[in-house]
Amino acid sequence: MLLLSREDIKKVFTIQDAVEADKKAFTLVSEGKCDSPLRTKIQAPKYDGCFLFMPAYIEEMDTASLKTVNIFPHNIDNGLPSSPAQVLLIDGKTGVVTAVLDGTYVTQLRTGASSGAAFELLAKKNCRIGALIGTGGQAATQLEAMIAVRKLEEVRVYDLNYERTVRFAEQMQKELESYGTKITAVRSSDEAIDDADLLITVTPSSKPVFDGTKIKKGCTISCVGAYQHHMQEMDPAILPRASKIYFDSKEAVLSESGDILLPLEEGLITEDDFTGDIGDVIKGNLTGRENDDEIIVYETVGVGAQDLVTARIIYEKALKAGVGTQWG
Ligand SMILES: NC(=O)c1ccc[n+]([C@@H]2O[C@H](COP(=O)([O-])OP(=O)(O)OC[C@H]3O[C@@H](n4cnc5c(N)ncnc54)[C@H](O)[C@@H]3O)[C@@H](O)[C@H]2O)c1
Repeated sequence: MLLLSREDIKKVFTIQDAVEADKKAFTLVSEGKCDSPLRTKIQAPKYDGCFLFMPAYIEEMDTASLKTVNIFPHNIDNGLPSSPAQVLLIDGKTGVVTAVLDGTYVTQLRTGASSGAAFELLAKKNCRIGALIGTGGQAATQLEAMIAVRKLEEVRVYDLNYERTVRFAEQMQKELESYGTKITAVRSSDEAIDDADLLITVTPSSKPVFDGTKIKKGCTISCVGAYQHHMQEMDPAILPRASKIYFDSKEAVLSESGDILLPLEEGLITEDDFTGDIGDVIKGNLTGRENDDEIIVYETVGVGAQDLVTARIIYEKALKAGVGTQWG
């Protein structure tokens, strides 16, 4: 069995690789080729936490995987990731576990890449300004995926905690220098979204984190954080303004995300307003953006296929490069 740490993974796998892996995963999901039961959730109210178990099997790839990702929101106060995780990669021919990967990093990569894939497929070709709301554990890969798929002059970053926002922006400016994008910390959500062509929200908020009436025409929005019924980052005001609403998986989004479930229940939108899954855009079954004025919304809650395909490609690259620690 191969053990792959964050540092090992960084040696062999880039955010562009992650975007390609997610696109493959979303295509397989749309083709019905991923057997991925909805994740099992066990609440841990004593610590405001919950344990999530995400299994997946793709026969075509002779691979299965199980990710455990546990959401403990107070971890951030103790310098720990708020969603610690591991991915077990399993040989589909023998059932043998072939690798254990740092699932926190796999999650960050494949979740950032989900926004990256959505922007690559659905955003205007010429974008100038990006906005990122939330600077927690998932934020760095979200930011990198955004600027990897569109050349941006500036990304404005906002978080409730301004000091953390400044630190995040300074650190990202250094780490992502090669992209040539200015990363700016701002003090309000309005300032972040002003004139933005791309917007990512990646917070555990239960109330909207931006004003949907202030989003400019042509913007593409990726909402990443709301994975439970009561969670809502997306301002529902954006939904009637959006010409298209896409998902990583409609089934998964409708099983858990307040961003879509709450406006549905309030009657602000109906299922007829949904465009469909991004995998069908990749396959050419669904139209993507048709002009530069459309506002397009993408909601992602994450699916097991992303972990499986990402982990499998990392594993192959690590084997080839002789990276990682053999165990057992
Ligand atoms: N879609 C997916 O596939 C996927 C995968 C992993 C995590 N997530 C979810 O994404 C969310 C963010 O994850 P994380 O690990 O970065 O969380 P985190 O706890 O590390 O950071 C969240 C950040 O959001 C900020 N925030 C909260 N409310 C805000 C608001 N109203 N306005 C601005 N900033 C606000 C916090 O101050 C914090 O800095 C979580 O809800 C997590 O469960 C989604």
